[in-house]
Amino acid sequence: MPKCKTLVIALCGILAAGTVAADKTDRLIRKAARYFDPLPATMPGAENDTAERIALGKKLFFDPRLSINDAQACVSCHLLDDGAAGVDNLKLSPGARGGFGDRNTPTVLNAGWQKSQFWDGRASDLADQAGQPILNPVEMAMPSEQAVIDKLAGLPEYPDAFAKAFPDQSPSLSYANLQEALAAFQRTLRTESRFDDFLRGDGSALNDQEKRGLNRFMSVNCVRCHDGPLVGGTLHEKLGEKAPFHNTEDQGRFRVTGDEKDRMVFKVSQLRNIAVTGPWFHDGSADQLSDAVRIMARIQLDTELKDQEVEDIVAFLGALTGKEIRKK
Ligand code: HEC
Ligand code: HEC
Repeated sequence: MPKCKTLVIALCGILAAGTVAADKTDRLIRKAARYFDPLPATMPGAENDTAERIALGKKLFFDPRLSINDAQACVSCHLLDDGAAGVDNLKLSPGARGGFGDRNTPTVLNAGWQKSQFWDGRASDLADQAGQPILNPVEMAMPSEQAVIDKLAGLPEYPDAFAKAFPDQSPSLSYANLQEALAAFQRTLRTESRFDDFLRGDGSALNDQEKRGLNRFMSVNCVRCHDGPLVGGTLHEKLGEKAPFHNTEDQGRFRVTGDEKDRMVFKVSQLRNIAVTGPWFHDGSADQLSDAVRIMARIQLDTELKDQEVEDIVAFLGALTGKEIRKK
């Protein structure tokens, strides 16, 4: 009998501890819901995306003939095959003719939810963005919009595919429609993660270290800039709020606006899939995600993180990797 009583007390203890842990997790989910949202079902602008338009956009995204020497497609820098994370994981990417741009390649996954495109936010949306790399001399290097249209018109499969994707427009084969089709395809690049399950109420979707990291990410105020469904992607902020960034060669939005206030202002990066899209920062200067996290805390928040805190935040960021994305 006494043995049995001990057993009951022990069982109660275990159950009580379980309830306390569950309460704590519920509180964490509620706190996180103040800053973050699960990925919405569709991206802005997806209302008119037909299957034909998405298929055309995909064909264009994978087609190296959009470049001057048939050497480079969008997918050459934004890899998508076989669980790739929409990046090439290079510091800087070579263009069609071998020259290099001066910025790291960001991911195209979930990009359409951002408020602007490019590191400096100079394109307003995916369609606006899609027209630029094709004509960029250090990327796909086509000489003009007309040259692109003439080239596509001479390829057997495109005139018909454009006609089907834009049935009520004449001509259907136009540069604006090419941009729209590329955007339509990219609006399908959506990656659900374990963090979405967590935000929707599944407390077991994150492990203890990831939960600690999430808590720290909120308590040190990374969420001042990195919040919403993409954990970023909605603001333009100064890189180096409290201490200068280690590379001030690229002045960010100042290059676009010429406005003194925009010196070193960059788009706040989205952090979905951030664990697999390194090297990090617009210049690809951080080889380790832990370095990027430590630098961010120091230069944006004037906070020196302990090693354990950095590791916990890195673990949390890993939970933002899409379930179908190949882990590195
Ligand atoms: C040579 C490599 C390369 C090619 C080819 C290329 N990109 Fe990019 N892409 C980049 C780089 C580098 C940036 C960032 C440039 C900047 O911010 O100034 C970028 C930015 C983007 C962004 C913005 C993402 C964000 O978070 O701001 C999108 C979307 C995108 N590219 C889509 C495309 C599409 C569509 C094509 C084909 C038409 C394409 N890219 C071709 C390298 C490339
Ligand atoms: C004041 C706004 C602000 C705060 C606060 C902030 N960040 Fe950032 N974050 C940015 C900006 C702007 C960038 C773009 C950096 C660039 O252009 O290289 C960025 C980029 C990053 C990147 C690299 C993204 C990439 O694709 O390479 C990581 C990782 C990151 N932040 C994590 C954090 C963490 C973790 C915290 C909290 C310790 C934090 N940030 C706090 C504004 C902020």
